[in-house]
Amino acid sequence: MSEDQQLFKAGQAILNKNDFGGYTVPTQGLYPFQWNWDSAITALGWMKFNEPRAWQELNVLMSGQWDDGMVPHILFHKDSDTYFPGPDVWGADKKVKSTSISQPPVLSSVVKILCEQAKDTQLRDQTVMAMLPGLIRSHLWWYRDRDPENTGLVVSYHPWESGMDNSPAWDEALERVPKVTWEYQRRDLNHIDASERPHKEQYDRYLYLVDLFKHKQFQSPDIYRDCPYKVNDVSLISILHRATLDLIDLCEQFNVTGQGVDQLKARATLTAHNMHQLWSEKTHFFHSKDLISNTLCRVKTNAGFLPLLAGLANKAQAQHLAKEAQTWMAASKYAIASTDPREPQYEPQRYWRGPVWLHINWMIALGFERSGYRDVAEQIHNKTDMLFREFKFFEYFNADTGAGCGGNDFSWTAAIAMHWLLKP
Ligand code: GLC
Repeated sequence: MSEDQQLFKAGQAILNKNDFGGYTVPTQGLYPFQWNWDSAITALGWMKFNEPRAWQELNVLMSGQWDDGMVPHILFHKDSDTYFPGPDVWGADKKVKSTSISQPPVLSSVVKILCEQAKDTQLRDQTVMAMLPGLIRSHLWWYRDRDPENTGLVVSYHPWESGMDNSPAWDEALERVPKVTWEYQRRDLNHIDASERPHKEQYDRYLYLVDLFKHKQFQSPDIYRDCPYKVNDVSLISILHRATLDLIDLCEQFNVTGQGVDQLKARATLTAHNMHQLWSEKTHFFHSKDLISNTLCRVKTNAGFLPLLAGLANKAQAQHLAKEAQTWMAASKYAIASTDPREPQYEPQRYWRGPVWLHINWMIALGFERSGYRDVAEQIHNKTDMLFREFKFFEYFNADTGAGCGGNDFSWTAAIAMHWLLKP
């Protein structure tokens, strides 16, 4: 068996082990539920060896969709006492217990990829036709609830909604959020060393926001008015935009028309028109925007490359980003770090403050490829490829040493390796 075949088998074993019956947990213990963007990305791995299981993953994720269209960030299908904050803290008593925020909506883009790869076309067509109305509703939820003023740039209410939970881009915005005063016990530190996880001070503020959503009874207009944390997250906006374009393509392919699809098109045009607001002429880079202070989040993070994925960077901007990517990579043996290694906030092993994530590098590489920078895409591919071969399927990797960090036997790491890196 070749090395790639062996690693592919190992990836397969990880997905099977993390399969909790129709949905895949990111890793056992640390994350014992179904996470939104993890699940979508993990389906790319399932697709390589079990098509029905890949579609099932997405169907189970959609089963937790709220009536207003939101697909939550975590679905608590079964109880577990190894994770905090659980369903009682979130207080969202829906048909499937869940958190009350969402996560980067990569789902429609994944559906499009699965469609292209499907061999069982009957299963594909049935599944996608049944799923499309829910997908449209979920995108319209973002545009309606999270952009009530029609700016084209959706707003995120919690750092966890970005999926880049502990990014230094959020530091100043989060500092304005009060801390909870009630006592609680974190569970992440039972699994992972504190040097790789956020500090208590940040957790106190994360929980304040969770409490606020509950007290506002999850009513978007009230939260929009009163939330002390409101950010135009450049990665979420880019991922949503890419997914909307992919969803519009899917609708065309499956002959789905109507008002919803027209609204998606109008929103996509608006985003493309206003994206320049997140570009800094000073740094020649894209930044998220803190809407309370009305300023761009200063620190350069990997999120700033993602507009390329969505075709939201113009030619000159793409050229700057290509140069920037090369500078970041020259500073590190491995692929694009989550924070610019030259930033004072850079910490190579702390969660989202430096380490490398495989799925983000996949998206950044796709962005460069789509923008005509094949060489940069290939460099990112090769520098990502080294990581899991040397250090196995960890949640993320120390950007300086490559050492695996966070949870081991991690589903999205295995899935991206199977989808993008391995040639079995
Ligand atoms: C962490 C990550 C988030 C991910 C989750 C499960 O919270 O920051 O992006 O979805 O773990 O893997």
